[in-house]
Amino acid sequence: MLDADFALFNVDQLVTVAPGCHPAARGDLGVIERGALAARDGTIVWVGPMEEFDRNVALAADALVVNTHGRTVLPGFVDPHTHLIFAGDRSGDFYARALGARYAEQLGSGGLMQTVDATRAASDDELLDLAYLRAETFLRYGTTTIEAKTGYGLTEADELRGLRVLTRLQHLSPLKIIPAFLGAHVVPAEFHGDARAYIEAVVSWLPAVRDHARFVDAWFDEGAFDVEDGRRVLSAARELGFELTAHANELGPHGGARAAAELQARSVDHVVYLDDADIEALRRNGTVAVLLPGTTFFLNHDTYAPARRLLDAGVRVALGTDFNPGTSYTQNMQFILTLAVLKLGMTPEEAIRAATVDAAAAVDLEDRVGSLAPGKSCNLAVFRLNHYRHIPYHYAMNTVETVVAGGQLVVDNGQIITQPLVTA
Ligand code: NIG
Ligand code: FE
Repeated sequence: MLDADFALFNVDQLVTVAPGCHPAARGDLGVIERGALAARDGTIVWVGPMEEFDRNVALAADALVVNTHGRTVLPGFVDPHTHLIFAGDRSGDFYARALGARYAEQLGSGGLMQTVDATRAASDDELLDLAYLRAETFLRYGTTTIEAKTGYGLTEADELRGLRVLTRLQHLSPLKIIPAFLGAHVVPAEFHGDARAYIEAVVSWLPAVRDHARFVDAWFDEGAFDVEDGRRVLSAARELGFELTAHANELGPHGGARAAAELQARSVDHVVYLDDADIEALRRNGTVAVLLPGTTFFLNHDTYAPARRLLDAGVRVALGTDFNPGTSYTQNMQFILTLAVLKLGMTPEEAIRAATVDAAAAVDLEDRVGSLAPGKSCNLAVFRLNHYRHIPYHYAMNTVETVVAGGQLVVDNGQIITQPLVTA
């Protein structure tokens, strides 16, 4: 018998995304009908059909039991690409685009620097407050793990401050956070377009970043960094033992996606414009393609990432929100699933894998999160729906009712039940 202090009973569909976890788990998503789950100290110890529960699990007298009759349960979403640390807003850019302005022009004329200025001007506690409220929103929408980037500081002090805020947040919030350093986001105004000089500055900050982040990111695109500069920062990071990720080929064809894959980046993100050789480079290097259809949608662009070509070539595809004030102001992975089905041509099953287990692979946490199987963290979202296919079908809505992170109830009946943050 397995001891447990947490259980889910009577789940209409327990979507484990772990097809081998139990003989009753069906299909690519490993769905157990009328399922149950047990956990102890925040780690799943058993999953299976409800009728097998009593034979396998000894539940503590004070265990937390969630009855999920009529509900669908998924692993908590893993959002592998967010720009969590920023202040201010860019609503002006948004409304200008609605009237026909293009993001590439806004980038050229300093749109992103507005966020850099607002972020630099905010105090540490303001940044922490903003990030904490955003962490609560992620949880309410069923996301229990995020990758969180810096990239709106762009000085050594401001970038390290962003990373320290992420460390403080991780101690306060049940949302699991993987920090990523995006010093190589764009060239800040004070470098007057001297990308080479700025990249050397970013490289010199890497030893100090080491204590706070596992991932280093760089943006390869027209208007951001060229292949040589991006490669310089990523190879220096690799030598220091960082994991690599990149923004690449978001605004047009570019050598960046291939260069990052060849440096064995764990993921290359956006990748809207890819030729066959780029796709082959991702496949050959085992690089995950993180697709961000919310960004294409919010920028009012027509061209979405080639998800089908990537999947058919055998590249692992993940989905994220790209949550940021300039190009994708959403934290809702459920809406991203809808866009994946409608705009990327993914099946609901592919989209759910991409938002859970494959997103976990993109942040190198597949052994802990993104699926519901013994040994994994007890992170899950309960949807008020009786079939997982109804998740992308409800669009831009929040159908999450209950969220459990690390075995703790953090959202109940749609309401956050963690403690409010008091920083003053
Ligand atoms: O992922 N592509 C680069 N960075 C962000 C947007 C930055 C901004 O405009 O604030 C993105 O789209
Ligand atoms: Fe991004």
